[in-house]
Amino acid sequence: MNGMIAMAYLFSAVMFILSLGGLSSHETARRGNIYGMVGMAVAIIATISGVATGAYWMVAIAMVVGAVIGLSLARRVAMTQMPQMVALLHSFVGLAAVLIGWGGFLDPRITLHGAAHVVHSTEIYLGVFIGAITLTGSLVAFCKLQGLVSGKPLMLPARHWLNLIAILACIVLGILFVPADVHAGTVINLLLMTAIALLLGIHLVAAIGGADMPVVISMLNSYSGWAAAATGFMLGNDLLIVVGALVGSSGAILSYIMCRGMNRSFISVILGGFGSDGGEVSDEEVDGEVIAIDQQELAEELKAADSIIIVPGFGMAVAHAQQAVSDLTDRLRGMGKMVRFGIHPVAGRLPGHMNVLLAEANVPYDIVLEMDEINPDFPSTDLVLVIGANDTVNPDAVEKPGSPIAGMPVLEVWKAHRVVVLKRSMASGYAGVANPLFYKENARMLFGDAKDSLQGVLGRVSD
Ligand code: TAP
Repeated sequence: MNGMIAMAYLFSAVMFILSLGGLSSHETARRGNIYGMVGMAVAIIATISGVATGAYWMVAIAMVVGAVIGLSLARRVAMTQMPQMVALLHSFVGLAAVLIGWGGFLDPRITLHGAAHVVHSTEIYLGVFIGAITLTGSLVAFCKLQGLVSGKPLMLPARHWLNLIAILACIVLGILFVPADVHAGTVINLLLMTAIALLLGIHLVAAIGGADMPVVISMLNSYSGWAAAATGFMLGNDLLIVVGALVGSSGAILSYIMCRGMNRSFISVILGGFGSDGGEVSDEEVDGEVIAIDQQELAEELKAADSIIIVPGFGMAVAHAQQAVSDLTDRLRGMGKMVRFGIHPVAGRLPGHMNVLLAEANVPYDIVLEMDEINPDFPSTDLVLVIGANDTVNPDAVEKPGSPIAGMPVLEVWKAHRVVVLKRSMASGYAGVANPLFYKENARMLFGDAKDSLQGVLGRVSD
């Protein structure tokens, strides 16, 4: 039986690796998801069959309840609410690690001595520590993203010192806890550390601005992976160790990629203080005039253009405009025009946000290009449609060294013959900085909700 379980775990681990590989590109993402589901199904069956219990009905009830909740949440959650959904799921991983850690500690059947005891206690201590930070950090992230608490960073005086003291206290408690035999004193050490780690999770994430949450969520994703790996060591479950390490390292790599795409250091994100949810009109002075056009004028521009690049951003997600974008694309392609999409790596609020929305609206993959692929083509393009994007098309990133977004790679849309920006107002984007693109000579603004504007333009293009 054990041999069968080991084989099943090996199979699942391979499936998870193939799944991650599949998810790295949208053509193979669906297949990647299927690999992941098959791997998880096999892992669950193998794990349950390895558990010596007479109460399988309890496991079955728990699985049915969990599956019903999971299915109904997954069906109801809107794409724009995905980050908070992920945050909530991470908190469950953290909670599981804390409970399993405490379960392992309190289990009277485990009587280890010497080195084996030290290893077991270290696993428990690390699992509970990482799990507790993940649990409360993810819950705070969820509350911020869901608007249940203010998205503003909580800036306590001497907050870095508070964090440092909390971490040092956990290290000291760990030194006392790990080698000691189980007695009342060790319970206190573990209890104190759990309380400190729970508070640390709250404080670390509360100090970060609401809009930086996607990076924090990816970081918490990484933590949840390490918490799962620690749990795997505790339970002696090889698959959990492998999967935890996969999640932990892929979350860390993703956080790094996001920070690089935003030209910010990981440390500066973790220490908080930058990034709003946008919506403020920056009081920075920008030279030039803003020229507004209406839907009819944009329809005329589109009819006259041969090559068109569409650049979507967070506003397309807010407006739920992806279907209208897709319909307009079909219409324009039907008129013989070359229409392509330019996707910035951090457009929207989560990695792949735009790709997922466009795939949902059945935009063909082969016309959706990455920033590096499309940037050289802007100078030879007739018309660029910027739909709810702002920071990711801000020329200051490459033209103004002192700008808060200086150095962030951007889509150089202003190099096209004409660029039309669809947004509701002159408000800033996520970074809270003014955008001189709107004042360029070749730029035009079509104010209004992106979906309404596109539907109006579609009707007029078809006339
Ligand atoms: P943003 O710079 O956030 O700008 C979005 C624009 O959409 C806003 O200026 C807003 O202007 C407009 N908008 C909102 N609702 C709209 C609606 N209903 N119709 C039309 N327009 C609407 O977007 P972006 O260019 O996608 O850049 C993303 C930003 O998020 C970057 O700064 C990036 O660093 C940051 N960020 C991204 C990620 C990931 S992983 N994607 C993670 C963390 C942070 P109005 O209010 O005037 O309409």
